Amino acid sequence: MSLLRETLLKELGISPVWQLKESGKHGQIDTTVSETGRDSGRRGQIMRMDWNELRQAIQTCTACDLYKTRTQGVVGVGDERAEWLIIGEAPGADEDAQGEPFVGQAGKLLDAMLAAIGLKRGENVYIANVLKSRPPGNRNPAPEEVEACQPYLERQIQLIQPKLILALGRFAVQSLLNTDEAISRLRGRVHQYQGVPLIVTYHPAYLLRNLPDKAKAWEDLCLARETMASLKS
Ligand code: URA
Repeated sequence: MSLLRETLLKELGISPVWQLKESGKHGQIDTTVSETGRDSGRRGQIMRMDWNELRQAIQTCTACDLYKTRTQGVVGVGDERAEWLIIGEAPGADEDAQGEPFVGQAGKLLDAMLAAIGLKRGENVYIANVLKSRPPGNRNPAPEEVEACQPYLERQIQLIQPKLILALGRFAVQSLLNTDEAISRLRGRVHQYQGVPLIVTYHPAYLLRNLPDKAKAWEDLCLARETMASLKS
């Protein structure tokens, strides 16, 4: 194990040191993301947008009340044709101010988690959130806010065409998998989002408060890495 990885795992609070397992076979996974038909209405319009239109639509969106309190919409960051798509919950105060996802404390941990499996923000990785606008006081997203924002994330996934999605925390997991199940029951296996393999793990902000679960997050990251390797073999 390299010194860098060892240092990063230490930073993640994981010990004893976990080894990456041999990559397993998960079969041929269909990564085709279906194109929505030419349906009319707001969702249909969003499904036909290119990146510039999408960015503009998010910045001017008034579909829920969050536009009244946000500084700016937070679209996402990274490689727009990345193989890895990381999806979090919603911008916090730092993200709202800087216009980039995961730039606060949780973001530092996310960067360390990515580095532990050889990934770097912006390099073959795209990071987005379920909500593009900050809920005031960092409260949980309301169901109508998630619903209003859903087409943006759907369109981002269609445009990016990731090979693998890593869903961080309850809101990302439940909205992408359309389930009420707890993360603890969903993690440890490969799910599918419209034909794209999806791995579930804990949100970095949760991990900062629940240190013992970092070891589980490391297992999830290993599963994600194995799954990606199996897609390429
Ligand atoms: N938490 C999230 O889910 N997303 C961010 O961008 C920042 C914190």
